[in-house]
Order: sequence, then C-alpha cells, then structure tokens
Amino acid sequence: MKIAFFNAKSYDIEFFNRANEQFKHELIYFESKLTVQTAELARGFSAICTFVNDALDRPLLERLAGYGVRLVALRCAGFNQVDLKAAEEFKISVVRVPAYSPYAVAEHALALILTLNRKTHRAHNRIREGNFSLEGLLGFDLHGMTVGIVGTGKIGLCFAEIMRGFQCQLLAFDPHPNPEALALGIEYVSLERLFDQASLISLHCPLIPQTRHLIDLKAVQRMKKGVMLINTSRGGLVDTGAVIDGLKSGKIGYLGLDVYEEESELFFEDHSDEVLQDDLFARLMTFPNVLITGHQAFFTEQALQNIARTTLLNVSDFEDNGFSQNRVNLKIQ
Ligand code: NAI
Repeated sequence: MKIAFFNAKSYDIEFFNRANEQFKHELIYFESKLTVQTAELARGFSAICTFVNDALDRPLLERLAGYGVRLVALRCAGFNQVDLKAAEEFKISVVRVPAYSPYAVAEHALALILTLNRKTHRAHNRIREGNFSLEGLLGFDLHGMTVGIVGTGKIGLCFAEIMRGFQCQLLAFDPHPNPEALALGIEYVSLERLFDQASLISLHCPLIPQTRHLIDLKAVQRMKKGVMLINTSRGGLVDTGAVIDGLKSGKIGYLGLDVYEEESELFFEDHSDEVLQDDLFARLMTFPNVLITGHQAFFTEQALQNIARTTLLNVSDFEDNGFSQNRVNLKIQ
C-alpha cells in the first residue's frame, strides 16, 4: 500500500525503511505535521501514518476522507488525538500500536525518579565546573517507600515490577484491576486513598474524558507534603496550573514530566532560537525540583523496531482483510 508519513523524523525513516524490507509497502515521508493546511499532501494516498501530536479532528478527517484516505495508521499507542466518532462517520479506519515496549516507558519513569531524587543532572554540571560540594544534593532511599500507581495496564505493571525491586509498598488505582498486579502484591485502593498515602505517584492511565485533569487542585491538596509526581502518560492528565501551585506551596516536592498538555506546539522540534510563548511551561522550567523530557519515554531501539513492524503489519492486514486486530474504535474508549 502507498503510505504517506507525516511528521517523519530521521529515526522514523531509518526504522520504517528497515522494517519495510519485509512488507514492501510504498513509503513516502513528509517532514510536516499533519494539519488542515498540509492535508493536501495526502491526496492520492489511501493510507497515512501519523504520530502523537498530529491532531486528527473532525475538519481534518473530513478533508482526508475527501482526498481518498481510508486508513490512519498511528505509530503510537495513545489515540486521544483522534476524533474516533468523526473517523467512523467518514469511513476512515484507525489502527495503532497498542504495545511496543512497556519497558521503555516504565524505565524512563524510573530515570526521572532517580534523577529527581539523587540530582545526578545537577551533580554532573557541578563536577564539570570543578565544584565538588554536596550542598543541595541530598536524596532519599526509595527502599520501603509507598508508591501509588494510577493505571496498571502494560506499562503500569512493568513499572510496579521495577519498584517492587526497590522493595516499595505498592498501591494502585485502576477501574479494571490487573490479576498480574494483584499477584505481585499490589494493593488496589481508591484514588483518594492513593493520593493520601503515596509518597511517589506515577501516572500510567490513558487520556480519556474521565481522566482529563485527574491531577487537579483538589487532588494536589490531598497529596502528602513533598510528594513526587511522575507523568509519562499524557499531558492532559495533569492540570499544569494546579501542579505549579503545588510546587510553589511545597506540597509537590518533585515533578517529573515526559508529557505536557500543550506539548504539540513544542515537542519533537528544535525551538532553541525562538522566544518561548508558553508562560506555564516557562514557569515550570524555573523550579529546581522539576525535570522535563520531551516525550522520549518510548524512544528506545527495541520500541522503534516494534512500532515500525506493527504499524506496517497493521497496514498489510487492512489491505488484505479490510481489518486489523489493532483497530481503534469508539468501543475501546
Ligand atoms: P494499557 O491500556 O495497557 O493500560 C492502561 C490502564 O489504565 C488499564 O489498565 C486501564 O484499565 C487503566 N485505566 C483506564 N481508565 C483509568 C482511570 N480512570 N484511572 C486509572 N486507570 C485507568 O496502556 P499502556 O500500554 O500501559 O499505556 C498507558 C499510557 O501510557 C497510554 O495510554 C499512553 O498515553 C502512555 N504512553 C506514553 C508513552 C511515552 O512515550 N511517554 C509511550 C506509550 C504510552
């Protein structure tokens, strides 16, 4: 099938070309993000491939349908950026990569935790300047800590296994408890109790209407003083204004983010020569106890190999059978 790739980076091209030796699709790469203005590029393609920040809203989907697009292959797990109702109406199928490496994301959550805790980023800079003082670098033992996990699917479970290695006490909230998590000794509690008791909270649930701003002012107020909050899931789970208030008051002791609500205007591009227009993001970066990465939790060799292989397989299945088991529809929301 002839597939138009939007937002294609050098690493996408490398991994997709390699995986495609087996599939023999025709891959055409465009650097531009998919927007109403660039949608014209999709004319003549029945399949397009997009990433997390290509917002597939109703007007865009309508336009794509008019150009003959029948399949949107998401090269990611999350699908909150797609108006699935509109896609169904315009007879566009949407497929995704439900799992490519839960380890990549869970391990990145740990990287944020250890860096925030032991301040290795600050120590590295100090040592390079000949400053060997330990002032301000005090950390704490993770051993025995109470960790709250919101969402115990593939990534949340992986994260739980890692934190179990530190002999943490594991609490979780998930409307669908995972038997594997129960077997690991996780205790499922209400979200309120998790906020009350956890010293470290890590978010691993999808962004859906029920989870938007799951971390709001009320949630922050319930948390333990000095709590560490980690979000490697989706930016919209967190009300940025609320966590800024929490950081200012000292309620939130550490904040690690790999995702940000307004990231689509910032992430995945080099803006180093531009004036930052997002004041909330700018404020976040002023806190010494905030660590932000630009949606890179997925970014490992193994994950990129799996993303490319599954995406091309999804397209082949759609081409051969008109159906893929990785189809996303309104029911899975
Ligand atoms: P999954 O589908 O295996 O697990 C999600 C879990 O969240 C399920 O157990 C579900 O029952 C639970 N859940 C649903 N509603 C909930 C609610 N209201 N409160 C608490 N839990 C709820 O998904 P997976 O693979 O573990 O991924 C989790 C999220 O991680 C994805 O939705 C995606 O947004 C994010 N992600 C981030 C990446 C990154 O690079 N930063 C890469 C891949 C995924």
